[in-house]
Amino acid sequence: GGVTTIDPGFKNTGSCESAITFLDGEKGILRYRGYSIEELAEKADFLEVAYLLIFGELPTAEQLDKFDKDIKEESHVDEDMKKILDGFPKSAHPMGVLSSLTSALIAFNPGSVDVDSEEAMYNAIVKIMAKFPVLAAWTMRKRKSLPLDYGDNSLSYVENLHKMMFAKPNKAYELNKIVIDALDKLLILHADHEQNCSTSTVRIVGSSHAGLFASLSAGISALWGPLHGGANQAVIEMLEAIKEDGGDTAKYIQKAKDKEDPFRLMGFGHRVYKNFDPRAKIIKKSAEEVLGDLGIEDPVLDIAKGLSQVALEDEYFVKRKLYPNVDFYSGIIYRALGIPTEMFTVMFALGRLPGWISQWREMRLRKEPIGRPRQIYTGENLRSFKDIADR
Ligand code: CMC
Repeated sequence: GGVTTIDPGFKNTGSCESAITFLDGEKGILRYRGYSIEELAEKADFLEVAYLLIFGELPTAEQLDKFDKDIKEESHVDEDMKKILDGFPKSAHPMGVLSSLTSALIAFNPGSVDVDSEEAMYNAIVKIMAKFPVLAAWTMRKRKSLPLDYGDNSLSYVENLHKMMFAKPNKAYELNKIVIDALDKLLILHADHEQNCSTSTVRIVGSSHAGLFASLSAGISALWGPLHGGANQAVIEMLEAIKEDGGDTAKYIQKAKDKEDPFRLMGFGHRVYKNFDPRAKIIKKSAEEVLGDLGIEDPVLDIAKGLSQVALEDEYFVKRKLYPNVDFYSGIIYRALGIPTEMFTVMFALGRLPGWISQWREMRLRKEPIGRPRQIYTGENLRSFKDIADR
């Protein structure tokens, strides 16, 4: 018999059982392995959250120390990878470069593909946790024509990421606690979100037993799109355009409501949240604090606040339960931290890495079958071949 039901966009179809992330979109609840996102954002650091997501429990001090050391031991990237980086034009979008470099890494680490033992799986995980921030930082330095930086293994994971992105040649690197704490929090808030588009991509690519890095490279491509991770870049571009246009938020609300106009209010709406995105609440507060602490006045924050105020009272948005999502405010913090707009989605990828890894690992450990959706065929019935002269 044929297939009788379809569910475009999988709006109401589960693809797996998972013990990683709990999400209640009606109530606006998000938990990693049972811990609330609010508590983790407040008390944990990113590497701890990565361990929690991947291995299921908060690490003991020894476990975290070992994880950190194992990652540091793998933090080098093959010199030949630089040639690949150099092959890209400076104008290349960092997400395309990152996806390509992640894929290229397989050639330099062929042992990462065969993960039939827990040990091999652990080694592949540690390798990518170590090398991914190096590659991400390189994509930014390439655009800025800065010499590549390998970081400093005496720093923490997030500090090291920041150093690799921002260290200036011939200048001592200075740590700024406000900046590192803000970055840490943003990465935690993005670390997992159950079966979203990029995570589902990672799981489905991995289900063919393509290796972890190949699955992640596909996930990065999925994240790039403006309806998913690319929204954070699109939000800032939208806010800047509104500012340039005289700051008339009502005009843009009207455009978003107009079904003839393709414009959407970027950073608004979510497939699962029909209430406030709990991450957006934390980020809004954090954006105000970070800008205050760094003494930055950004008119774009006022536009964002004005826009969300109008939208939250407008019948169109109320009726459709459209609320600000995680990326409505994240770009404002990234900007305050000096991160260029086209790097925003790379920051999202850095945060999502442990989520993707944990979902891939769960899929492999549960020995899930290859992902292979069905369809309802709507094409032609059987017909005879026509010679080219008769067409
Ligand atoms: N602006 C204006 N109208 C919207 C918006 C928006 N941002 N989002 C949804 N709608 C309308 C949509 O037109 C539709 O209206 P109608 O019922 O009259 O046809 C209704 O709301 C339902 O929208 P949908 O497109 O069917 O919902 P979806 O679940 O397929 O899409 C979404 C979810 C996030 C892709 C969508 O809300 C959107 O495009 N938002 C803007 C992009 C964005 O911010 N994406 C980041 C998501 S959070 C980060 C992440 O996880 O990646």
